[in-house]
Amino acid sequence: MDSIRKINFSDFTTISKLERDVFKDCWSKKIIEDQINHVNAINLLLIEKNQVLGYIFAQNYTDFVEIQRIGVSKKARRKRIGETLVKEIEIIAAQLNINKILLEVRKDNLPAIKLYQKLQFGIDSIRKKYYALDNEDAILMSKELT
Ligand SMILES: CC(C)(COP(=O)(O)OP(=O)(O)OC[C@H]1O[C@@H](n2cnc3c(N)ncnc32)[C@H](O)[C@@H]1OP(=O)(O)O)[C@@H](O)C(=O)NCCC(=O)NCCS
Repeated sequence: MDSIRKINFSDFTTISKLERDVFKDCWSKKIIEDQINHVNAINLLLIEKNQVLGYIFAQNYTDFVEIQRIGVSKKARRKRIGETLVKEIEIIAAQLNINKILLEVRKDNLPAIKLYQKLQFGIDSIRKKYYALDNEDAILMSKELT
C-alpha cells in the first residue's frame, strides 16, 4: 500500500539522491534545499514499503500552481506513481481555490508529455531553445480544473 505525504527537510538526502538518479540535468543541492524551504512550495513524495519511489515539487501563486519537477524511480515507472502525484497536486490546488495548473516540459520528454496529456493538460506554447544544457525547446502546458 503506497502513501503520499509532504516532503520535509529530513527527506533532503533521499530526494537529492532520487533527483540525481532520475535527471541528467539534476538540480543542485542548493536548489533542492530552497524548494523544500520555499514558502509557496507544495512538495510531495510517494512511499511504498518504506521506500520513496517518487516526488513532485510545485509552487502555488495567487491564481495558479506551477509544477516544477516530478521524478519517479527508474525501477518503479509505469505504475501510475507520476499520475498519482500530479492528481494529488490538483486536489491540493482545488483546496486552495486555485483552478489552473501550469508546467513546462522538454520537447523530447515523451513519457512526461504523455503523462500530462493523459491528465488533460493542453499545450499553450513552445519556448525555443529554452534548456541551456542542450538547447532543447520547452513545451508550456496547462490545465484548468473544473
Ligand atoms: C515522467 C515520469 C514522471 C512518469 O512517471 P510514471 O510513474 O512512470 O508514469 P505513470 O505510470 O503515472 O504513467 C501515467 C501515464 O503517462 C504516460 N506515460 C508514462 N510513461 C510513459 C512512457 N515511457 N511512454 C509513453 N507514455 C508514458 C502513459 O499515458 C501512462 O498511462 P498508462 O500507463 O495508462 O498508459 C517518469 O517517467 C520520470 O520520472 N521521468 C524522468 C523525470 C522527468 O522527466 N520528469 C518530468 C519533467 S520534470
